[in-house]
Amino acid sequence: MADTHFEYHDLHPTPADFAAEVLAGLRRRPRYIPPKFFYDAEGSRLFEAITELPEYYPTRTEVGILQERAGEIARRVGTGGLLVEPGGASPAKARVLLDGLQPCAYVPMDISREHLWLAADQVAAEYPWLEVHAACTDFTRLLEVPPAAPTGTRVAFFPGSSIGNFDPEDAVGFLATVAELVRPSGFLLIGVDLKKDPARLEAAYDDAAGITAAFNLNLLARMNRELDADFDLEAWRHRARYDADRGRVEMHLVSRRAQTVQVAGVPFDFAADETIHTENSYKYGVEEFQALARRAGFVPETVWLDADRLFSVHLFAVESD
Ligand code: AVI
Repeated sequence: MADTHFEYHDLHPTPADFAAEVLAGLRRRPRYIPPKFFYDAEGSRLFEAITELPEYYPTRTEVGILQERAGEIARRVGTGGLLVEPGGASPAKARVLLDGLQPCAYVPMDISREHLWLAADQVAAEYPWLEVHAACTDFTRLLEVPPAAPTGTRVAFFPGSSIGNFDPEDAVGFLATVAELVRPSGFLLIGVDLKKDPARLEAAYDDAAGITAAFNLNLLARMNRELDADFDLEAWRHRARYDADRGRVEMHLVSRRAQTVQVAGVPFDFAADETIHTENSYKYGVEEFQALARRAGFVPETVWLDADRLFSVHLFAVESD
C-alpha cells in the first residue's frame, strides 16, 4: 500500500468466533445464525449484485436522496469533520458526500476484510487530500475505532438501512454507542427503509433472478468451506416473508427434507421444513424511527424521503450529556 494517508486496523473476528456463534445458533430453537456471517468475499460480491437488482429498491433510492441533498447535508453538519462509516466496505454512498463534506478523515469500518481493504484503498487513491483509516471489525466493537484518527466534529454515516438488521432493542444499544462515538457535538446520518406494501418488500428479498437466494445459501457453502460442514445445498431453499406485526422481513433457510448435517464435527438433525433463521430486516415509519433514535440519545434534525416514500434518510444531532 503506497499511500501514506491510508491506515488499516485489523479487528476481524477469528474463525473461532464464527465456529462458536454458528454452533450456539444451531443449538438454539428456533435455530438462528446472525446475518453478519453472510459477508465473506462471495457473500459481499452477492450483496453488491443484490443492490443492482430491479426489485431491490433501497440502494438506488437512497443514493438518489443523498445526491439530491448532499449540499444541504454539508451545510447542516459543516465541513472538516471526521466521517465514520460502520459497514463502509462499498463507499459508493460516502463518495456522494465526500466532495461536499470535505472531511478531515474518512473511517470506513466493515467485517469483510477483502472488500474493506479494496474500497478504502480506492477511496484513498481517488481523494488524495483525504486521510483514510480503514478498520476491519464487527459493528459491536465500534468504540475501539479509530485509535489514530484526527479530531473534528464526528459524523457517523450509517446508510443502506443496515440498522434494520438489528432487533429494535439492539438498534437502540448500537445507536447509543454511535452517540458516544460522536459526542459532544456530532451527527448521525442514517438511511432507513420504510414500511410499505408486503408484496413489494417480499419481492425485494426474493428476486426473480435468485441472487438473494444465492446470498442466503452461501452461508451454508461458507460453513462447508470454513467449518468443515457437509450441507448439501440442493437440500435447502431460501425463504423471505414480511411479518407485518413485527414490521420485519425474515429470511430463512428451509430444510427440504429430514437430514443430518455435520458442522465442525457436531451432528445436527433437521426435520423436513425446519428452518435456520438467518436475517431480520426491520422497516420503520418516520416517527417510529425518530422515537427509537431519541432513546439512544439523538435529536431529530430533519428527514428526507424520495417521491414514492420508499426510503428515508434521517439526520440526527447527538444530545449533549
Ligand atoms: C445489509 N442489509 C441492510 C440488507 C437488507 O436489506 O436487510 C441485507 C439484505 N438481505 C437480503 N437482501 C439484502
